Amino acid sequence: MTSAAEWKEKESQYYIHTFNRQPMVIERGEGVRVWDTEGKEYLDFTAGLAVNNLGHCHPAVTEAIQQQAATLMQTSNLFYTIPQLELAEALVENSCMDKVFFSNSGVEANEGAVKLARKYGRLHRNGAQDIITVLNSFHGRTLGMIAATGQPAYQQAWLPLAEGYTNVPYEDLDAIREATTDQTCAIMVEVLQGEGGVNVPTEGYLKGLREWCDENNILLIFDEVQTGMGRLGSLWGYERFDVEPDVMTSAKGLGNGVPIGAFMCKDSCDVLEPGDHGSTFGGNVLTTAAGNATVRYMVENDIPGHARKMGEYLESKLEEMRAARPDVVKGPDEESLDAVKERMLGSGAESAQIVQGQDALAEAGLKVVQSQARYEGGYWNTTGIARPITVSAMLPEIEAQDIGVLFHGATGRGNDQVRFQLAANTLQPSLHVYAPWRDPEFVQQFPRQAADA
Ligand SMILES: Cc1ncc(COP(=O)(O)O)c(C=O)c1O
Repeated sequence: MTSAAEWKEKESQYYIHTFNRQPMVIERGEGVRVWDTEGKEYLDFTAGLAVNNLGHCHPAVTEAIQQQAATLMQTSNLFYTIPQLELAEALVENSCMDKVFFSNSGVEANEGAVKLARKYGRLHRNGAQDIITVLNSFHGRTLGMIAATGQPAYQQAWLPLAEGYTNVPYEDLDAIREATTDQTCAIMVEVLQGEGGVNVPTEGYLKGLREWCDENNILLIFDEVQTGMGRLGSLWGYERFDVEPDVMTSAKGLGNGVPIGAFMCKDSCDVLEPGDHGSTFGGNVLTTAAGNATVRYMVENDIPGHARKMGEYLESKLEEMRAARPDVVKGPDEESLDAVKERMLGSGAESAQIVQGQDALAEAGLKVVQSQARYEGGYWNTTGIARPITVSAMLPEIEAQDIGVLFHGATGRGNDQVRFQLAANTLQPSLHVYAPWRDPEFVQQFPRQAADA
């Protein structure tokens, strides 16, 4: 039998190295559990990256795939096929949308939604074709969607970016208004940010976007690739915020494990015509049979209601933990920050400062709390909360106190420390940055952690 080590060896020999994988080789899944090749059992909290919303190998979905695989697997979109139309019907009958187009992934669904918006702009807004998106968002990895994704980390290595996208700060309606021009045809957002850190919009933000789009005849696109299919305790995320988009995208949980995505629109913006868009596999009978079984099972058994109950249970338990541990920081509230300060002083720091980076970081759309302690009169020890982007909030303090060394602390991983160092030196080249996991002497003292780093 091939061992896990041998599979890893094969991966490094044959697979383009774009993933830093967990060490196990996952072989089998059932419900919330998976097993590796060594027979070890795990409770799976990754769920295929927010995909297996009904659990692994759900019998209803598996049966639909098995039956379809023995009947017909692919014909193309030159013909009508039953599973495709059944899934389209299930989606329309269970959402505020009127029409559907199937793709193979979330990113493709978003690309399709943008094409639809551009056609709408051409027909109904004097040729407008620009899309506004927000910082810290995530819309996928094609060249188009990295321009839409408001995170420089995904963009910088792939310049020049596709034209026609403007990224503005998250939750800032004024920024949206300022960025809107007569070239704007759509605003695209996640109903809450997933990959960017589970950022929930404050009351009124999505409604504000809806009003602005209505006033200006701009389409509102919700990327529900992650928030849809029950994840927020309703079939679609928009239901939780009581705001309907004009266009919506889905993928991930839509097929409970098979690669399928969709973009959907209201009749008012159903502008695509034959020849405008297409896909060899999009809407394929095998994947839509799985999608159809998934959506119908989810609706008939009120799986979103179950997710809501579980969410409330988890929240109540987290609240209990928080009440028992008031020193755990949850956002910028004074009491918990004081506790952080005390801990820093208790650990031997000569002075401790809490710097709230929110204002400086608003541009990056991030919410952070950041603490710093000054040791041995000369260097800063930042906490594990500090990430590269927080560097810009630290620099004015460092400058004001005439300090020459920025110290990462022994938290974070090697990669994190490289980014931290690069970010600091880009902003201030003369600053000496000490990143311990990059220091051979420090690493020698902790060989095991260094291997993990
Ligand atoms: C909100 C959102 N949009 C789009 C995507 C891209 O989906 P895919 O990886 O299926 O292309 C993701 C993936 O994480 C996502 O979370």
